Amino acid sequence: MSNRLPVVARASKTILDQIGGTPLLRLVRVTRGLPARVEVHLKAEWFNPGGSVKDRPILRMILDAERDGRLMPGKTLLDSTSGNAGIAYALIGAVKGYPVELVMPANASEERKRIIAAYGARIVISDPLEGSDGAILLAREIHDRDPDRYVKLDQYNNPSNWRAHYDTTGPEILEQTGGRVTHFVAGIGTSGTLVGVGRRLHDADRRIEVVAVEPDEPLHGLEGLKHLATSIVPGIYDPSVHNRKLPVSTEAAYAMARRLSREEGLFVGESTGAAVEVALAIARDLREGVVVAIAPDGGDRYLTTPLWRDLVI
Ligand SMILES: Cc1ncc(COP(=O)(O)O)c(C=O)c1O
Repeated sequence: MSNRLPVVARASKTILDQIGGTPLLRLVRVTRGLPARVEVHLKAEWFNPGGSVKDRPILRMILDAERDGRLMPGKTLLDSTSGNAGIAYALIGAVKGYPVELVMPANASEERKRIIAAYGARIVISDPLEGSDGAILLAREIHDRDPDRYVKLDQYNNPSNWRAHYDTTGPEILEQTGGRVTHFVAGIGTSGTLVGVGRRLHDADRRIEVVAVEPDEPLHGLEGLKHLATSIVPGIYDPSVHNRKLPVSTEAAYAMARRLSREEGLFVGESTGAAVEVALAIARDLREGVVVAIAPDGGDRYLTTPLWRDLVI
């Protein structure tokens, strides 16, 4: 235990003021064997009030839409989501008084659907075989049937998504590493995290390497991540932001997520396992460096999924 006083959480008017400002945690055990001057850190986004990285872009998309008159009381928020963005919409909609309708594939985790329902949002189920692309197409259809009722902020094509990360996640990583970050690793769902943080880090220092993580096959078990070659490519995706794109298998990502729980006390989701698997591969090739990987969410969202379902209790 350190004998420093704990940092007192900041006071706020609503829970929304607590979005962002997440801890940066250094990995100390899964990194054994790396050279002493190589550090690997996790940006722990499960500390956001909605439990994931998605609180940041969804709040920013809503605030920007209110500011420019696209969103006002009486409108219903509609979008497609594999779950975490849905939780962010449901939470923020509850605070601000907007009804929320979310289209998600039937195979989205049970925990996420229940959390969304707990915040009072409505879920529309799309074909599980069509994955997140099926949810995108059904959300478009629902919107076009009654365009006056719905505001579809469309996280895949909305620049407020990556701007949230450019203005918050990126500067936080620069500050928390004292500007020493040399590599940034993130998976791609909408690509908002990778594009926003990547652009911000490159504006600070072109030499920082931005590394994208991609499932190694189209049919994978990494919720939140896209296999781009076989998916609808998000409008905000900009391949020039990442210096490299590395594949990761579902098995390796699960194994790393389990190691993070058991060896580091970090109960994380499978896309965090994927990012750390790649971060460690990069770190092994360095003699010196500060690698930061994004941890989009916590493990409690996956208790009924293959990641944790077969735990012996
Ligand atoms: C668990 C998880 N990992 C990774 C991502 C990818 O983040 P982004 O949409 O910023 O690319 C998401 C996005 O929804 C997610 O829910």
